[in-house]
Amino acid sequence: MEPVIAGNWKMNKDPAESRALVQQLLADIGEVKERIVIIVPPFTSLLHVAEIARNTCLKIGAQNMHWERSGAFTGEISGLFLTSIGVEYVLIGHSERRHIMGETDEMLNRKLKTALDIGLISIFCVGETEQERVQNRTEEVILRQLENGLKGIEPEVHKMIVAYEPVWAIGTGKTATPEQAGAVHAFIRKHLKKPCTILYGGSVNPDNAEVIMAQKEIDGVLVGGASLKPESFARIVHVTIP
Ligand code: 13P
Repeated sequence: MEPVIAGNWKMNKDPAESRALVQQLLADIGEVKERIVIIVPPFTSLLHVAEIARNTCLKIGAQNMHWERSGAFTGEISGLFLTSIGVEYVLIGHSERRHIMGETDEMLNRKLKTALDIGLISIFCVGETEQERVQNRTEEVILRQLENGLKGIEPEVHKMIVAYEPVWAIGTGKTATPEQAGAVHAFIRKHLKKPCTILYGGSVNPDNAEVIMAQKEIDGVLVGGASLKPESFARIVHVTIP
């Protein structure tokens, strides 16, 4: 499995800024061999970014989608609109969607099924809060998110990616230790049974990316803040992986 490096821009960068960022990223990243590099801009930038990234090393992801293909769902985006402009990946169940926007396991399960049906590769995010970790409930929470989210779905390589993002490590500068992350990844892998790419996310930066990706259980990273700085993201893309 090729290592995956994905950059989630969250609600940052208007279309003009996105164009500039993707152009600088392409210049800084240069040639990429045997790594999958995905950028995940906001919806309003997708079309612009997809045009610039066509036939380059960058693949495009969206940050969310609705589970229905069309209809009376004001403010939502269909996965079919995404595939029609060259988007290949979609984040499903990012902790900010779960915790701020109230998305439930059941909603995420419907989204995952639709994404699979229409050929979008989901990056399905799971992760415990700080309180849940302190209470020793990490495995219980991850198991619930996986079991409910993946009900009726067999995740397979190339069709779905799982991202472990401990909520307490997102945007906080606190990173899970490679051992902590490796242990949860092993737990997820055991539960999934079939081979699946599993990413780590949470305060990944150019200085810690190498030790994180050196863990044999970790297949890549999902980067937030550091993906907005071309030079930082380029360094993460090119870290040495043993
Ligand atoms: P940070 O890298 O800013 O902690 O964000 C991680 C994240 O949420 C990626 O989806």
